[in-house]
Amino acid sequence: MLLVTGASGQLGSRVHTGLVAAGVPAHAGSRTPSAFGPAGRLLDLDDPATLDLAGVDVLVLVSAGYAEDDVVLTRHDRVLTAAEEQGVGHVVYTSLTGAGDHLGFALAHRWTERRLACSGLRWTVLRNGLYAELFGQLAAPQNGVVAAPFGSGALAAVARQDLADVAVRVAADVAADPSAHVGRVYELAGTTAFTAAQLARAWGAEHRPITLGAQRTALAGQDLLPFQPAMLMSIYSTVAAGLLADTRSDLPDLLGHPPRDALAAAVAAGVPEAI
Ligand SMILES: NC(=O)c1ccc[n+]([C@@H]2O[C@H](COP(=O)([O-])OP(=O)(O)OC[C@H]3O[C@@H](n4cnc5c(N)ncnc54)[C@H](OP(=O)(O)O)[C@@H]3O)[C@@H](O)[C@H]2O)c1
Repeated sequence: MLLVTGASGQLGSRVHTGLVAAGVPAHAGSRTPSAFGPAGRLLDLDDPATLDLAGVDVLVLVSAGYAEDDVVLTRHDRVLTAAEEQGVGHVVYTSLTGAGDHLGFALAHRWTERRLACSGLRWTVLRNGLYAELFGQLAAPQNGVVAAPFGSGALAAVARQDLADVAVRVAADVAADPSAHVGRVYELAGTTAFTAAQLARAWGAEHRPITLGAQRTALAGQDLLPFQPAMLMSIYSTVAAGLLADTRSDLPDLLGHPPRDALAAAVAAGVPEAI
């Protein structure tokens, strides 16, 4: 049996839907399992009592980020320990592109990769690039102006659906053949890199980049969780430094077709009605 975690999330839901559409029976692990009918299984990585992985052959572990590192590490350690103890065969983990090591949320991903490598489990790591939709939302124009601190840095962003499609392909392969993709680390950045200026042009907006300092000041006035400003600032500074522009990627091979238009996905996510 195959189980997808974070199944209500934007990535997990696409992975679960994709598996079902491909005819691969998959359970949906979620804090709100009732949304999935009989396929739903209660799974809250903050609650050890819910970590029943009996009968799971393939676990698609969608990272449970958006929290402080100690919280995320505890979540991932818990579910991997449960997987070891309960005889899960293979874990497919959605990680972060190797180019993203300077991002604030990289630590939890690299820790989890090492945790997997030291486990007795079979595993595959999908090092996801940054979502095109996230870039579009962070660069979204306000009153016709893109005012974000991305400078002239380009981002090899990738449409979330492409990342979901790769996870579906890999999980389905593993379900059919337990020796497939064992111990593989796949780099899944986008195959084109584009800038905030290009997004601005596509929106018909003016590009007026601001400094990192100005952005940090702006974030200080927003209603954010304590960890969020540092996390967001790391995205701006890493893109602006040009460290996420590398387009070498395993994406086309694993998709089996050219990736979706990531610029179009970013543009669609940044139009006012999408935010
Ligand atoms: N590559 C990128 O650009 C990028 C950017 C931001 C984040 N990420 C990472 O990628 C993950 C998936 O992205 P996304 O767009 O699908 O995020 P999302 O829409 O916010 O979904 C995250 C999901 O994580 C699950 N989750 C959160 N806390 C959990 C807990 N305590 N126990 C079990 N599950 C928990 C939830 O699933 P349920 O509601 O079903 O319980 C939630 O819906 C994120 O969680 C984050 O780690 C990647």
